[in-house]
Amino acid sequence: MTLILRALQADITTLEVHALVNAANSSLLGGGGVDGAIHRAAGPQLLEACRQIGGCPTGEARITPGFRLPADYVVHTVGPVWRGGRAGEAALLAACYRNSLELAAAHGAESVAFPAISTGVYGYPPELAAPLALATVRAHAAGLRPLREVLFCCFSAADHQRYLALLDGADGG
Ligand code: AR6
Repeated sequence: MTLILRALQADITTLEVHALVNAANSSLLGGGGVDGAIHRAAGPQLLEACRQIGGCPTGEARITPGFRLPADYVVHTVGPVWRGGRAGEAALLAACYRNSLELAAAHGAESVAFPAISTGVYGYPPELAAPLALATVRAHAAGLRPLREVLFCCFSAADHQRYLALLDGADGG
């Protein structure tokens, strides 16, 4: 089955996908940025579900229902805080994408949307994060049933352009 990879500029909470990924922190108890937006849109039941999970280490992922979101599931993953690049950040960021895809696929997701994990408050340079995200998804999503489509949901026009340029000239653009 061909895997479709797409970049779009949107608020991730509006997307009608099976699973959307949240760039959370290890408490899973909410925060700012995309995490705050997802909790606001999903409603208070999301916080309760996260509370019951009891946290998530950096690089790993946990899943909850999407509650009031159009998405069926939220996959909460914890990206690395950027500390200059020599503290294992790349391996941890790749693990976020990999683990999120695996968890979503294990729950039957055909479509998954990712925000640009770690590139906001956590300070990961977006020009380094984007190619890593794309390469990781390309390497791991193809064999994962029933996954058919992965969306890179960009908040800024600059990030959108960056993903479009990376997808251009490759498959699935
Ligand atoms: N839809 C899509 N992308 C968004 C949205 C949205 N509604 N809002 C922001 N972004 P960040 P991090 C983009 O800071 O760097 C939270 O407090 C944003 O422009 O949300 O992983 C958590 O609780 C950026 O490109 O996540 C953690 O404490 C990307 O999402 C911490 O921030 C990620 O920015 C995690 O920091």
